[in-house]
Amino acid sequence: MSLPQVTKEHLDHWALHPLDWLAIFLPKVRLWAKQQEIMEAVAHHDAVSVRSGHGVGKSFVVACIVLWYLFSHPFSKIVSTAPTLEQSKTILWDEIRTLHKELSKKMEYCGELYEAPPGLKIEPGWWAVARNPKDSHSFLGAHKEHLLVIFDEASGISRAIFDAASGLTTGQKNKQLIIGNPLEPGSYFHETHTGDVPGFHRIHISVYDSPNIRWSAKKNCYEDNVDAEGNLPYPSLTSLEWVSKRIKEWGIGSSQYQSKILGEFPTISTDSLIDSRHLSAAVQKGLYLRETLKKIQEGNLIMTPEEVKKMVGR
Ligand SMILES: Nc1ncnc2c1ncn2[C@@H]1O[C@H](COP(=O)(O)OP(=O)(O)O)[C@@H](O)[C@H]1O
Ligand SMILES: [Mg+2]
Repeated sequence: MSLPQVTKEHLDHWALHPLDWLAIFLPKVRLWAKQQEIMEAVAHHDAVSVRSGHGVGKSFVVACIVLWYLFSHPFSKIVSTAPTLEQSKTILWDEIRTLHKELSKKMEYCGELYEAPPGLKIEPGWWAVARNPKDSHSFLGAHKEHLLVIFDEASGISRAIFDAASGLTTGQKNKQLIIGNPLEPGSYFHETHTGDVPGFHRIHISVYDSPNIRWSAKKNCYEDNVDAEGNLPYPSLTSLEWVSKRIKEWGIGSSQYQSKILGEFPTISTDSLIDSRHLSAAVQKGLYLRETLKKIQEGNLIMTPEEVKKMVGR
């Protein structure tokens, strides 16, 4: 089916049913349940925030979303960003490039890809582009038309960029998608999940939800990870083997385990050894930070709530 044959009814339908669009235009793509949930959520909500473990297919589904949104909303615009422009290029836009090749088999004309910055232009005023997060001015502007702003690897994106971009997505037809490993407690990304930044539809994915892990558990192939034929349902997604190695390396309860496996914001910050819940409880109760640190260094690295109470004399 080429674009000129597409009617307004088609477009209205696809705008709300991205999986139907995908089945027609990218029929080889097989999304697993959580990837489908993310696509549907972007169709039905103006602001979506996804926190997830490592390698579950976040960037891949974002690439699907870029192509679906662009081609089901004529003259739409998409701005994507990541902690660096290089990351946008090598992660999200690499996936877009591969899928765009597949799309060209189903559409007579599906726009032109650009390299620097990575982008896809269908016509003037109808495009997707990666923006440099260092240039917060490039996120300014008022937009009445369909606009989707995407933050991939959201933990590494500064609050200034989120603030600039929130000014960009004030129109009725504007959407934003924030997605990544939940690395930094207290970040803007975190606040979209606590509700401190309101209005976000939230999705959470643990690596244990991944189809590979569920499949391994069902098949009882914990050790070898693959069945007799050497199969895994999604060979590129995180596997049980990866999880086992990381557990040995990081330990259960570490900040990496919380973030990269459970897909939860760590209660221990990634560059500190102190559980932030307990530290803030202690600090709030008037304890000197230096004293707290000293006691933690001398004893357990992580204090239990009881220990905190004991330290503050309650
Ligand atoms: N539904 C899928 N079908 C096939 N390959 C996939 C699918 N989802 C993700 N992948 C591949 O799995 C790998 C990890 O996916 P990625 O999107 O980078 O994960 P994340 O962003 O969660 O770390 C990539 O090589 C990607 O192309
Ligand atoms: Mg990714």
